[in-house]
Amino acid sequence: MKRKILTLALASLTLMALCGSLYSQDDIKALADPAFASMRRGPVPFKHDQHNEKAKIADCKACHHLYKNGKLDPSGDSVGTKCSECHTLAGGKLAMPLMRAYHRQCENCHAQKGAGPVACAECHPKDALKK
Ligand code: HEC
Ligand code: HEC
Ligand code: HEC
Ligand code: HEC
Repeated sequence: MKRKILTLALASLTLMALCGSLYSQDDIKALADPAFASMRRGPVPFKHDQHNEKAKIADCKACHHLYKNGKLDPSGDSVGTKCSECHTLAGGKLAMPLMRAYHRQCENCHAQKGAGPVACAECHPKDALKK
């Protein structure tokens, strides 16, 4: 009996942990990286999970890539590490500046696939700073 209760408790804990992690991505509706000291354009609408479903991107590594000593490590991903932890605002020897990293990642794929926005105003709504 005791064992059964323990198993149940463990199962519900696992479920809670799963929901928690799903919720955190689900929760992203726009990108507003606090690493940008001041925002000239404002938050960029990006519904994380919905975007990736529509775009049919199953591999987290397509965006959350892992680099070790400046080399891409295709065996892992960097889920849980913010882009800005590697791509600093000014950039450095190891990685390009943050704004360029975002722009290149988003725009390159859209251009390659011929789908998704590539013009400033499509990603940066005019009223983004007023909201
Ligand atoms: C495919 C979408 C996309 C396109 C197209 C795009 N951007 Fe961005 N831009 C982003 C994302 C994502 C960020 C990071 C936003 C954040 O986290 O705050 C960003 C950040 C910025 C920032 C730094 C943050 C700020 O608000 O000051 C500036 C400035 C900017 N973009 C200007 C431009 C300009 C100018 C163009 C057109 C030449 C452009 N962007 C095109 C997606 C885009
Ligand atoms: C199209 C690009 C893209 C794909 C694909 C993608 N993500 Fe993300 N994800 C982002 C961006 C951009 C952020 C914001 C990064 C930042 O703030 O540094 C983010 C943030 C996150 C966060 C942080 C959530 C928070 O609230 O802080 C988690 C967790 C996450 N992603 C998990 C995943 C997982 C798991 C997958 C694969 C199933 C995935 N992502 C696929 C672009 C992507
Ligand atoms: C673990 C550190 C790390 C994290 C986290 C990381 N990057 Fe990178 N990234 C690098 C390094 C190192 C390079 C190679 C040097 C360069 O091109 O800046 C790179 C290269 C890139 C490139 C050029 C190559 C390519 O894949 O197109 C883009 C674009 C990019 N990163 C965007 C991002 C974005 C956007 C995020 C967050 C969703 C992110 N990176 C998260 C370290 C990281
Ligand atoms: C690996 C490819 C890939 C990357 C990386 C990517 N996108 Fe997309 N995106 C797509 C595709 C494909 C579509 C078109 C989906 C469809 O058919 O509606 C799209 C559509 C969009 C749309 C249209 C509305 C929507 O949510 O479907 C927005 C906005 C968008 N992307 C923003 C971004 C931003 C911001 C980034 C960078 C943080 C980004 N995307 C990175 C592939 C990508």
